[in-house]
Amino acid sequence: MTKEQPHGGKFITLEGGDGSGKSTQARLLAEYLRQQSIETLLTREPGGAPGADEIRQLILTGDPDRWDAVGETLLFYASRRNHLRLTIWPALKAGTWVISDRFADSTMAYQGYGNQLGEAAVQRVHDFAVGAFKPDLTFIFDMPPAEGLRRTTGRTHNEDRFEKMDLAFHGRLREGFLDIARKNPDRCVVIDATREIESIQEELRRILKARLMP
Ligand code: ADP
Ligand code: TYD
Repeated sequence: MTKEQPHGGKFITLEGGDGSGKSTQARLLAEYLRQQSIETLLTREPGGAPGADEIRQLILTGDPDRWDAVGETLLFYASRRNHLRLTIWPALKAGTWVISDRFADSTMAYQGYGNQLGEAAVQRVHDFAVGAFKPDLTFIFDMPPAEGLRRTTGRTHNEDRFEKMDLAFHGRLREGFLDIARKNPDRCVVIDATREIESIQEELRRILKARLMP
């Protein structure tokens, strides 16, 4: 919630490395909110609007060297701007709660820390494309990178440009997400993603109730 984009609904994001369980938990959280009779939209990045989905294909398929970190950051933010303007902002304005599987912290962690573009560079693009708008609550899914990668190795799809990155990259990524959480304690909660699905979901619901349904 910000001064720039007043809204009635709440904006919740799930962040973390590949295979950390974000989509599984996002689906369960949306189910829970709907059970509480809260109108809820479940979306994801990159994507979440027609133009943003086209950009998703550009970014995630093809040769790992297809884009450099700068080009990639601009594409993620072009996609994010489209997602905000056409999907997220209208939903929040209408009072719908929005759960997004990834949002801006992913660009900071992957491109800023993982690809070592640096925090300041990514923040500049963020300020230009998004301004002061931010999630009401962000869950950061934390686990050793090797474990997440193990969970995703069975996947058969062609959106695997990022899954080809090495373990050093994933180590920087994890530290990046933890750093983001440390710097934004009002918005971010770190979740131990190595636990059972049910116990993680219970924790998310408890935190969500305490923070957003006082
Ligand atoms: P992400 O969206 O973060 O990439 P997913 O929710 O798609 O992660 O989960 C990746 C894989 O791991 C899936 O096969 C999913 O069923 C499995 N999985 C999700 N959460 C857990 C968990 N807590 N423990 C074990 N396996 C899990
Ligand atoms: P996603 O499909 O959510 O992958 P996963 O289910 O494995 O988490 O996201 C695709 C990839 O794009 C993922 O490896 C993270 C990466 N990504 C970035 O590098 N920067 C970003 O800003 C976003 C949103 C995603």
